[in-house]
Amino acid sequence: MSTIAQTPETIPAGSHEPKGQPAGPCLMVIFGASGDLTKRKLIPALYNLERSHYLPENFAVIGFAFDQMSTEEFRQKISSEARELDEAPIEPESWNRFIERLYYMQGDCRDSAAFERLRGLISDVDRRHNAQGNCLFYLAVAPSLFLKVIEQLGRARLVDEEEGRWRRVVIEKPFGRDLQSSIALNREITKALSEDQIYRIDHYLGKETVQNMMIFRFGNGIFEPIWNRRYIDHVQITVAETVGVEHRGAYYDNAGALRDMVPNHIFQLVSLTAMEPPNSFAAVRDEKAKVIQAIQPLHPDECLHCAVRGQYGPAEIDGQPVPGYRSEPNVKPDSATETFVALKLTIDNWRWAGVPFYLRTGKRLAKRVSEITIQFKQPPFVLFRQTPVEHLKPNLLVIQIQPEEGIWLRFGAKTPGPFVDIGAVKMNFKYADYFGRTPSTGYETLIYDCMIGDPTLFQRADMVEVGWRVVEPLLEVWGTRRPADFPNYAAGTWGPEEADQLLRRDGRHWRSTA
Ligand code: BG6
Repeated sequence: MSTIAQTPETIPAGSHEPKGQPAGPCLMVIFGASGDLTKRKLIPALYNLERSHYLPENFAVIGFAFDQMSTEEFRQKISSEARELDEAPIEPESWNRFIERLYYMQGDCRDSAAFERLRGLISDVDRRHNAQGNCLFYLAVAPSLFLKVIEQLGRARLVDEEEGRWRRVVIEKPFGRDLQSSIALNREITKALSEDQIYRIDHYLGKETVQNMMIFRFGNGIFEPIWNRRYIDHVQITVAETVGVEHRGAYYDNAGALRDMVPNHIFQLVSLTAMEPPNSFAAVRDEKAKVIQAIQPLHPDECLHCAVRGQYGPAEIDGQPVPGYRSEPNVKPDSATETFVALKLTIDNWRWAGVPFYLRTGKRLAKRVSEITIQFKQPPFVLFRQTPVEHLKPNLLVIQIQPEEGIWLRFGAKTPGPFVDIGAVKMNFKYADYFGRTPSTGYETLIYDCMIGDPTLFQRADMVEVGWRVVEPLLEVWGTRRPADFPNYAAGTWGPEEADQLLRRDGRHWRSTA
């Protein structure tokens, strides 16, 4: 995690020009340069870095993809996509400076000759921009090509680090599709790369609100002493989307909500919420892996009680018909793939023993919202027995990740009047109020960190494997038992009824985010 310091007190709200250093000289090669990720996230993130002066002076991008295009056509395509996306205002001067440093090479990831040509282009572009031999390879390609590209990079000696130059590879998720395949993938890629050259990205760690978890917990003195089983009743993590599978049916139907979201994004949120305080940034990944390791593995019988799966059916939302999952493009008409998961997990250590973590995620839910709710234990009612106070609401701390970005705390306050009565009030911090809005795709910090060689916000092999290990029993049980009731929730709702029962059985309920 790059420690680019900004002190809100010293900067007027709304004017947040970064104060850090630009990264050192390097090139970035993007495999999959004509794809969606490049268009939606990587190029806008690089441009945001350029505008805020974090990109090195000596820098250029080489886009590599199968489509036939010249560098000039690639630049035009990127420019018109940026205008179309309209994510951040484009300033002609900085945009021109940026676009002139983009190059394109047509090639097939499976073709060794293409990598020989790529080596030649890297040398040329490096010479022109004085990138000093440093190179970041970004794999924005289908997961089935990860290993192929890395093998080709190895064969073409493009990842050799010699004469002081660095070579790094960024790998997108999903990293394997289960424990075995992720171990195998790790084993194979480490034949060409050392662990410190591998940057396994989880874009949730690029979100400011997610990074703030560490600052919130460990940069303040008042939360950590109550952050444990003595004071916390339970934790809820919701990552809800209103979109369906969009154009990703072919991938999603082989993955499902569990693989797509839980061992990666949601476990990142769990680990940041539950880890022990690390004693240095270098120890963050150790602590995160440790806490995921401490999650009690589900026994096959428990999988039926502590986990709920769902699939959305057709519905009408805002007067518009919405197809069910099984009618989405590239999805099997009798698909048993889940688009919703709810889980109850327990973390087997001194801090969290007896504190359930309820997790849920799904597509086509009622509202787009990602948040972490910490529900504190009820205080004893004694004082209010002879008063009109009927019930006390427990204190809640809600960390809002998106689309609202903020943190709020619920506590009880006396309602004005001659009687003792308590109302629940909300103390609300919103990022936008304090810091203004900064154009961000969530990839800026991650790309910058790769350039400066800071792996804190990236997944280490052990963290990936431990995540898969936790969900493995569920993958096995669900893989062998076809759900009889799919689709079991209507698009635009909060998922199947069983997800509510999961908490109701424990005398709890999901926090309403309506
Ligand atoms: C991706 C998943 O990793 O994360 C998608 O593959 C999901 O299915 C997406 O929609 C959610 O990301 P965000 O940033 O929109 O919450």
